[in-house]
Parts: sequence; C-alpha cells; structure tokens
Amino acid sequence: MTVDLLLGLQWGDEGKGKIVDVLTSKYDIIARFQGGPNAGHTLEFDGIKHVLRTIPSGIFHESSVNIIGNGVVMDPVVFQKELEGLEKFNIDIKSRLLISRKAHLILPTHRLLDAASEASKGKAKIGSTLKGIGPTYMDKTGRNGIRVGDIELEDFKERYRALADKHEAMISFYDVNLQYDLKEMEQEFFAAVEALKELTFIDSEAYLNQALKDGKSILAEGAQGSLLDIDFGTYPFVTSSNTTAAGACTGLGIAPNRVKDVFGIFKAYTTRVGSGPFPTELFDEVGATMAKVGNEFGSVTGRARRCGWLDLVALKYAVQVNGVTQLYMMKGDVLSGFETLQVCTAYKYKGQEIDHLPYNIEPENVEPIYVEKKGWNADLTGMTSYEEFPAELKEYIEFIEKELEVPIKVISVGPDRTQTIIK
Ligand code: GDP
Ligand code: IMO
Ligand code: MG
Repeated sequence: MTVDLLLGLQWGDEGKGKIVDVLTSKYDIIARFQGGPNAGHTLEFDGIKHVLRTIPSGIFHESSVNIIGNGVVMDPVVFQKELEGLEKFNIDIKSRLLISRKAHLILPTHRLLDAASEASKGKAKIGSTLKGIGPTYMDKTGRNGIRVGDIELEDFKERYRALADKHEAMISFYDVNLQYDLKEMEQEFFAAVEALKELTFIDSEAYLNQALKDGKSILAEGAQGSLLDIDFGTYPFVTSSNTTAAGACTGLGIAPNRVKDVFGIFKAYTTRVGSGPFPTELFDEVGATMAKVGNEFGSVTGRARRCGWLDLVALKYAVQVNGVTQLYMMKGDVLSGFETLQVCTAYKYKGQEIDHLPYNIEPENVEPIYVEKKGWNADLTGMTSYEEFPAELKEYIEFIEKELEVPIKVISVGPDRTQTIIK
C-alpha cells in the first residue's frame, strides 16, 4: 500500500489535528514525522476538546496504530503530561502508540538554551514556543544529540550529563539573566524518562516499510505549516524542521515513490503566531473580528494569533513545494458575516507586480494586491452538505480552486469532528 501526507500550508494551526482525527478510520497507521511539543493539535468530538502535542491525532481510534517517527523531537516531561491527559480515555497506549528509537530527546537544558537564545535576540526574537525545538535539532544535525534508543543503553546517564554540562556552559555564554533550578528540572526529566521506558520503542523505518509490504495504509501527520519550514519558510522566522512533504520521507524512512496523496490543509483566511513577516495581516476591526470569532489563541502558548486575509501567493507556493493533490479548507464558518472579503492574488514587490513568493517578504518590500469577493451571512456550522452552502461561499471556494489548480475536497465548518463537509 501507499502513504498519504497531511500538511499545513500556512503558518501552522490550520486544523490538522481535527482532519487527522476525521480521516483516521481510513488508515491503519498514523505517524508524526517532525516537530515536537511546539505543536498543538486540537480534536473535538462527543463534547470533548483535546489538544495533542507529540502524540499523533489518530490516538482516539481503536483500530489505528500511532507512531512517533524518527524526525520528531520529544520531551519526556511534556509527553508524560500528555499521557496523563489521556488516562481517562482508557487507551491501550502500550500497543497503540509506538516510538521510534531514532527520535531525538529534548533535554531540560535544550529548553533553557531556547529561552536564552530568544532573550538574547531582543526585538529580533523568533517568537519560539520555547519548548527547546531549535536547540534539539541543532544537536541532532551537530551530531551531539541523545535519542530515545539511548535510554536503553547502560551509559544513558553519563551521556546525558556530558551534554547537559556542555549546555550549561553554552547558557552562560549568553548575556541574559535566566533564573532556573536545573536539579529540579532534572528530577522531573528522569522521572519522565522512567515512565517513557514503559512504552514500546521500535525501529520505525523497518516497522513502516514492513507495514507497507503487508498492505497497510499510512497517514503521515505534519506539524506546523509550510511557511514555517526551515528551508522554504519565512527564514529565520521559522521552526527547525522540514514541515513540507519531503520531511515526511526523511522523518519516517519512507521512500518518495511510496507517497500517493498530499492533503493540504488551509484556513479560509490566514493566521500566524510568533514573529515574522505576514503580508496580508490586518491591524483593524476586521482582523480583530476574525481573531474573536475564530478563537485565534495558540493551543500551546495561549498567545493571540495574528490574523489576515487569505494569501493565494503564499498558498500557491506551498501547493507547489508539497505537490498537494487535494485541498481541505478550514474555518469557513469564521468568515460568515463579512459584507466583502479580500483575497490576495499577487504582490507589488519593489514596484512590480509578481505572483510568486519572493526571497524577501518584509513589509517594506511587499504590498498585497487583492481581489474583492462577496461575503455571505449564513451560519455554516449546522450545515451538512455542500448544496446548502450560500452561493457566495461556493464562489469563494471555486475561485480558490481555479487559482491554485487543485480541488478543494473537504470544507470544515466548525471544530467538531462532525462539522466536516465532503465536496
Ligand atoms: P493544528 O495545529 O493544525 O491541529 O490546529 P490547532 O488545533 O492549533 O488550531 C485550530 C483551531 O481551530 C482549534 O481550536 C480547532 O478546534 C479549531 N477548528 C478546526 N476546524 C475548525 C472549523 O472549521 N471552524 C472553527 N470555527 N474552528 C475550527
Ligand atoms: P502546529 O503543529 C503555529 C511557530 C512559533 C514561532 C516559530 C518557531 O500546532 O500547527 P519553535 O517553537 O518551533 O522554535 O517556534 O514557529 N510555531 C507554530 N505556530 N503552530 C505550530 O504548530 C507551531 N509550532 C511552532 O510560534 O513563530
Ligand atoms: Mg496548533
């Protein structure tokens, strides 16, 4: 069988968790391939709202196996809290959640380094979630990291100490006043590592390739979004992993020719949390209304998300880089009630009109060019079929499909599992 990918096409928080949950019944295996506890994937069903961080969003379905792949960075402390949050659901975690031995561990000192680095940047800070993501991937590529499989080694504690000591020296290099009690953090860390040992570690690339041979289907669940990709995002205001399609191959050990569909998830407007350029950002009442109606507050940090109009220049870029075959439009319900809607179809870049994403999209270089669309006033949240949609929404959807040259297959009209309309 083959692998399908599900990816966020904007700056994250597009609604990936909800859609993975909706799609899980069609797949045998759900696998996370990059990122870590910087992710916050929200699922809502049966009146319950749940936010997942490192655990794949298929975990609530009895029939699926969930895998934390080699490309993920995991923090045992956050992970343990995540497991505690799942206790009431009586999930057989040991058999339904498998962890790659090659996934890298986030140490307490990685979190401290993240904080020190951000504090030292002042106004130029990335707006990191401060979960230690950047420093952990730096140790991975610097070939100094500690992996889940190392927990099984006899000298795990010595390896830990050597790296943590090095990190402490690095922290003191930053000229910032960081208050911390490492002893206490380490106690919590080692207790969480003991709990982690109760779970099943696997050689995930071997497991996944065997599963494919056995005819199993796999859905790879992306975290963050394409514009936060370390190579293709709005560098340096990005995360430290490849959030785009290629990341699923390296983050799981699956060959590119095994990938079939690429589902691209996007909001009917745009949001961003943290620093960095955002050409269609709104600073007026319209943006404030989107934030309020869309409840645009970060699932991880609680920070207000910046809001703006849909940016088709950026989306087209994400569709291209990922090879998107199907689009899923989220949060259409949030746009109800606006008389008119603006859609960015090109940029004025250094005085010239362009329709591709240029190297530098800082506000001084880029001015969005909009096409105006008629809004709609109907409440979409109770609708159950595409036919019920107001004509203006259908026109909005068809316009996007035409511009992006990819069909929109699913339209989400509310946070609940059931509020999902197949076109
Ligand atoms: P993810 O990181 O991509 O999984 O997205 P988040 O969970 O961080 O953010 C998406 C937010 O929007 C969550 O609070 C979801 O419950 C909510 N959500 C998802 N789809 C819809 C939708 O169609 N309409 C509305 N109103 N909310 C939605
Ligand atoms: P999900 O998977 C939205 C942003 C941070 C910051 C930048 C770098 O829920 O869509 P990092 O902690 O990775 O060093 O932060 O990336 N960011 C996200 N924004 N959704 C996410 O994940 C994000 N993960 C990181 O706000 O700007
Ligand atoms: Mg999120």
